[in-house]
Amino acid sequence: MEEQQAALVQQQAELAQQQAELAEEKRAMQVERDQMAAAAAAAAAAAATAAATGSSSAAEKDNRGLGTHFAHAGCEVDPTTGALTPAIHLSSTFERDADLGYSKGFCYARVDNPTRQLLERTMAKLESGAEAACFASGQAAASSILQGLAGGHIIIPDDIYHGIRTVLRSTFGEWGLKYTEIDTSDLKQVAKALKDTAEYKRVVVWIETPSNPATKVTDIAAVSRMAHEYPDRLVVVDSTWVTPWITKPLDLGADMVMHSVTKYLGGHSDMTGGCVVAAEHLCAEEDGFFKKVRHNQCFVGGGLAPFDCWLCLRGIRSLGARMPLHCSNAMAVAVYLEAHSKITHVHYPGLESHPGHAVAATQMNNRYGGMLSFQVAGGRPAAIKMAAGLKVFMRATSLGGTESLVEHRASIEPPDTPTPHDLLRVSIGLEDVDDLIADLGQSLAQLE
Ligand SMILES: Cc1ncc(COP(=O)(O)O)c(C=O)c1O
Repeated sequence: MEEQQAALVQQQAELAQQQAELAEEKRAMQVERDQMAAAAAAAAAAAATAAATGSSSAAEKDNRGLGTHFAHAGCEVDPTTGALTPAIHLSSTFERDADLGYSKGFCYARVDNPTRQLLERTMAKLESGAEAACFASGQAAASSILQGLAGGHIIIPDDIYHGIRTVLRSTFGEWGLKYTEIDTSDLKQVAKALKDTAEYKRVVVWIETPSNPATKVTDIAAVSRMAHEYPDRLVVVDSTWVTPWITKPLDLGADMVMHSVTKYLGGHSDMTGGCVVAAEHLCAEEDGFFKKVRHNQCFVGGGLAPFDCWLCLRGIRSLGARMPLHCSNAMAVAVYLEAHSKITHVHYPGLESHPGHAVAATQMNNRYGGMLSFQVAGGRPAAIKMAAGLKVFMRATSLGGTESLVEHRASIEPPDTPTPHDLLRVSIGLEDVDDLIADLGQSLAQLE
């Protein structure tokens, strides 16, 4: 009996000891949680103070070089965790307040999403715009503009990216949207098209410079001045090939910039996306055109998914390092091909022989991008044989990735394409340029 009582006392003592340890553990955890909350609150306060007073002011930041702007793009330190790299917010829905409001600013991911919002803020900043809207592809971004043009007219380059011409001919053409195709690099044709469309309330002049694949160069500042002599004329620049590292169309007077971020901005051939950036006056006014783009993003529903936004943000941060190499490699390849006896034409705005070189030199800040096309002596069969003989260049559509790509454009475009059949388009990647030139040389050597 005595033994049983002693065992009971012993058990009770052990239980009391365990309870004391548990209480101590709980207290320590609470202290740790309080410390983390205090640190997060302090970090949030510091971030707010830095934003308000500017530990590095906006003016200081604006004075930094282009490379710094890209390297820090989208770097907004998370006030709760201190993370430098943005989180991917996958939630499709967000908590509603008891009074039915959405005090945290988000309601449903199609409408808005923190990761997409960060990419949009970043793109607006890089393009010196007021607002941006990101879409599931470049085509969706372009379509969001066309969807806002009911009853209007659009003047397009005669060698516009063929996907946009196709959707104008099909879907939007069927809805009654009228368009005129001209050579926008010829200002006389621009003046005539503006005059001929004077009866329309709203006209968009669409510029793609350098154009795809002919690399025609259009003077953005001149076309913007001409268009703005008429009321409600908007100039939109498809700046996919150049990125804001080379040209900032809004600074030259354009009203909106469009990108397929699938290309250089994403930069790694691993996502598709598009973006529209608008100048201040299209966002501030009650009936500003960008409101239509935003409405279409929300209700037509082609917004870019959070993971792709995150991939694009990651790509943008290395753009300032990638673009100089794309440009210098492309220039070396263009010079090599121009001197080659089996090449009849090289289309690259960096070459002095290019008809748009003088405009490109100022508009493109002496950087001419990574895209060029060339025509092969011997016509279509020779061009196809040359593409087939390349070993470093990969045969694929698209552009702007780290790898060099070659494409026979006429055969991927519709049958009535203006693209010559002896033309190959190349996206120059980040390989050693000697390897690229040797590859082109060995393939050209196989042609008779
Ligand atoms: C100049 C240009 N604009 C727009 C697009 C369409 O972009 P996406 O393929 O992302 O829809 C492309 C695609 O190649 C392009 O080259």
